[in-house]
Amino acid sequence: MANSIPVEERLIVALDVPTAAEARAMIDTLGDAVVFYKIGLELFMSGDYFELLDYLTNQHKKIFVDLKFFDVPATVGRAVAQLNGRGVTFATIHGNDSIMRAAAENKGDVQILAVTVLTSLDRGDLDDLGFSCDVEKLVLSRAKRACEIGCDGVVASGHEAKAMREQLGHNFMVVTPGIRPVDNDDDQKRVVTPAQAFENGADYIVVGRPIRDADDPRQAAIELQAAIATALP
Ligand code: C5P
Repeated sequence: MANSIPVEERLIVALDVPTAAEARAMIDTLGDAVVFYKIGLELFMSGDYFELLDYLTNQHKKIFVDLKFFDVPATVGRAVAQLNGRGVTFATIHGNDSIMRAAAENKGDVQILAVTVLTSLDRGDLDDLGFSCDVEKLVLSRAKRACEIGCDGVVASGHEAKAMREQLGHNFMVVTPGIRPVDNDDDQKRVVTPAQAFENGADYIVVGRPIRDADDPRQAAIELQAAIATALP
């Protein structure tokens, strides 16, 4: 885990809402409790994505563009290059070595996070795609390749984070979604608490619904920030 990251930047809030107006309302409600935001496909399709991006920049927020670029390498490289100079910290890409290389070569001031294997894919889905290997081994080997090729980190579940950190060392970022603010034993096996995520080696956590759907989102964010500060060594 990189110790140089300011503690308040380790919480990335996913703005999973359909309109830029709702996103701006959430940013305003959360105020100084949140520094880092993830904007994804839902907002992209609203038509106001870049207006919102500029709003975040003007508010001095950090931005994670989660559009999981996947296309022929030249197109992914050119798409990534379009983000250079726009105040974007992270962008996600998805794909094989040549796609990751094209992204890394064109990243400019953006840091590239690789999505290894979408967590929505299960054994049966991978069989359908023709991958017979073990899912965990595949995730780790894709992450190793991403690191060697020049990507800056990976998106990994709290459970995968530990193996990533052990195998890939400290010069590679691990960004972990699937966070539950409190321990729970429901059937969601892939979720972890903020403390577990950081113990396992995550550098950042991504939180959506536990903040968006809270009765008091700002208070929920403040409590998460406090939990993060306590969890960090
Ligand atoms: O579950 P929650 O609402 O906290 O999800 C936060 C964000 O993390 C969502 O935007 C979702 O797209 C993303 N996510 C992800 N990979 C996962 C789980 C969630 O990128 N495995």
